[in-house]
Amino acid sequence: MSVAKKQYKRITVKTLVDMKAKGEKISMLTAYDYTMAKIVDGAGIDVILVGDSASNVMAGHETTLPITLDHMIYHASSVVRAVERALVVVDLPFGSYQSDPKEALRSAIRIMKESGGHAVKLEGGKEVKDSIKRILNAGIPVMGHLGLTPQSIYKFGTYTVRAKEDEEAEKLKEDALMLERAGCFSIVLEKIPAKLAQEVAESVSIPVIGIGAGKGVDGQVLVLHDMIGMTHEFNPRFLRRYMNLYEDMTNAISQYAKDVKSVDFPNDDEQY
Ligand code: KIV
Repeated sequence: MSVAKKQYKRITVKTLVDMKAKGEKISMLTAYDYTMAKIVDGAGIDVILVGDSASNVMAGHETTLPITLDHMIYHASSVVRAVERALVVVDLPFGSYQSDPKEALRSAIRIMKESGGHAVKLEGGKEVKDSIKRILNAGIPVMGHLGLTPQSIYKFGTYTVRAKEDEEAEKLKEDALMLERAGCFSIVLEKIPAKLAQEVAESVSIPVIGIGAGKGVDGQVLVLHDMIGMTHEFNPRFLRRYMNLYEDMTNAISQYAKDVKSVDFPNDDEQY
């Protein structure tokens, strides 16, 4: 059993803020289905993100834009059924919160009611401030997401490092302060220079979770399928692969195919 697992029964948004205050790093991974979420939760991960990266990883889309609120609720409810300890944060998908605060609140309420998730995450700074406030006013915890925000990929044009220039870095710092003031319980910083990420983490009292944002933040998040090497075509510098499941699974599956064809499987012990 991991140290973190012994220490906390059920992770809440307050646990995460306390962890930052104590200098304890926060571990976060994505999951989109029951079986994976059970493994991730059992291994002692603090936060499970039902990310809209499900659009890429589970559905094979090029971007996160096509995934719908109904799809997110389906994934999130599968995850929630598996989880006993981690905090489950669910992404509000593209188009479900940007047009107006009322719609944002309706979307967040659907996620909370229909999936049983514990919090929502949404991308952006001052542009979505009113939506964030509306959701928070309803008692729904909100995690912010700044830096590379994949739902705006067509505005950026590429998935390269964000906020390298002063103007964008300044806006990001202001947005982080705004998210804290508005009442967000945490912020994800994606693919920005490590020095800037550390500066932001030190400027706010809520936990800052990084992906491609260096080690000076309060925790780390990765996409599970990348981290266990199930995907193999995505190779950013920030990614550490802990397994090569793509190769292991390919070998196992081709061995199974050979065994079926050679009638090696099933053997006498594997039948009734
Ligand atoms: O959707 C997702 O997986 C995310 C992480 C990359 C932070 O937002």
